[in-house]
Amino acid sequence: MTITIVGHGYVGLVTAAVFADLGNTVWVIGRDKNKIAKLKKGDPLFYEPGLSEMLQRNLNAGRLKFTLEYTEAIPSSSVVFIGVGTPPKEDGSADLSNVLTVVENIGKHINNYIVVACKSTVPVGTNRRIKDIILKKCKMHPSKFDVASCPEFLREGNALSDTLHPDRVVIGTENKKAQEVLLEFHEPIDGERVLTTIESAEMIKYASNSLLATKISFANMIAFLCDKVGADVEQVLQGVGLDHRLGRSFLYPGVGYGGSCLPKDVNALIKTGEQYGESMDLLKEVEHINQQSRERLIGKVSVLLNEIKTKRTVAILGLAFKPDTDDLREAPSLKVIGSLLSKYPDIRIQVFDPIVKQDNHPLFKNVIYSNDPYKAATKADVLIILTEWNEFRKLNLEKVKKLMRGSEIIDGRNIYEPNAVKKLGFSYQGVGRS
Ligand SMILES: NC(=O)c1ccc[n+]([C@@H]2O[C@H](COP(=O)([O-])OP(=O)(O)OC[C@H]3O[C@@H](n4cnc5c(N)ncnc54)[C@H](O)[C@@H]3O)[C@@H](O)[C@H]2O)c1
Repeated sequence: MTITIVGHGYVGLVTAAVFADLGNTVWVIGRDKNKIAKLKKGDPLFYEPGLSEMLQRNLNAGRLKFTLEYTEAIPSSSVVFIGVGTPPKEDGSADLSNVLTVVENIGKHINNYIVVACKSTVPVGTNRRIKDIILKKCKMHPSKFDVASCPEFLREGNALSDTLHPDRVVIGTENKKAQEVLLEFHEPIDGERVLTTIESAEMIKYASNSLLATKISFANMIAFLCDKVGADVEQVLQGVGLDHRLGRSFLYPGVGYGGSCLPKDVNALIKTGEQYGESMDLLKEVEHINQQSRERLIGKVSVLLNEIKTKRTVAILGLAFKPDTDDLREAPSLKVIGSLLSKYPDIRIQVFDPIVKQDNHPLFKNVIYSNDPYKAATKADVLIILTEWNEFRKLNLEKVKKLMRGSEIIDGRNIYEPNAVKKLGFSYQGVGRS
């Protein structure tokens, strides 16, 4: 099959590479000449395990093609997937301007029958709007296209495997022909097929991300109380999660959820609820607890730093919002670094992340970049863990202790066993366990 994907970010490029690898001809449409030139040479522009190799393989095979021109791609495609960003607006609602621009461009270039399938996360009602734009604004005949909502569920860091082996493939469309085209296209992919209306498919995506966020905030709420009553939240949640009705997945406390999806999708669903007269109080509290989880960590660090009068130095291990990605969107590290810099103008912040580079964010101009975790820890008063990269779990903490000036560990991801760390002479504070 020949398909087009508009957008070459985490969703667009991964989908393109995987479906090209399955033997399809895949056009990827972008809007930036320089980026398209780099992609044509096999540079994925961001880090995702295995993506670079898959990209190169399919470029070499001639199955993956990058272009700026809709006219090159749309007329020969059976399906066009929209995978552009839907960032949050000031008020928390989803900014649909990228999607709507792309839809107009698609609409103008339809020639043969095509399914316009939206993978971008968009509020309920958007796919009907997409259909309207193509019909009315682009004056396209209804027999030439159908729309479908095909929400994406991949996780950054695991995106290739998630695309090939998803738990489910959701196809929301009111049209049998579009459903058949999409079922055939997804045939080599694992996962339950969930065939729904357009509105239900749109809601499945937001409901899923909101429930994931709710589990994380629930774990944090329990952790806050464990801190006060002297319980160990990891033992508590282990005990809770063994109940098969509940499970342990996403019941992990820490510095809260981040990334490009959960924070924006929770806020967008709150906004949709409000538009329809639903107050969405549960999700407002989920978001509030998420902010608190960052603030509590900053509070713990501040108590320690207030005791130090000269050359306050902290080491931060982990900058990305989660391991195996360089994505910094809504990463707790940004809030923690920003807040420490403004509270303590003379502070020295030494950071290490296995993937994130100093030029990935303007804030990092104000910190000392280290190329290994031990350098970052050298002469630090406090060591803060913000991302649970595996390599931090097996650090030589005896060595770290000798290198540090102080002996404080603030473990924002509960990756260490408190007693083991304390035996080495550290003072340890995790989340909901000390
Ligand atoms: N990142 C994830 O883990 C993930 C998972 C599931 C769903 N989603 C959703 O998928 C969508 C895309 O997310 P992402 O993380 O891939 O975003 P991203 O920011 O990584 O990439 C967005 C892409 O859209 C392109 N783009 C924007 N406007 C364009 C235009 N007018 N014309 C052509 N290209 C344009 C950008 O150049 C970029 O390549 C979002 O709605 C997101 O919520 C993301």
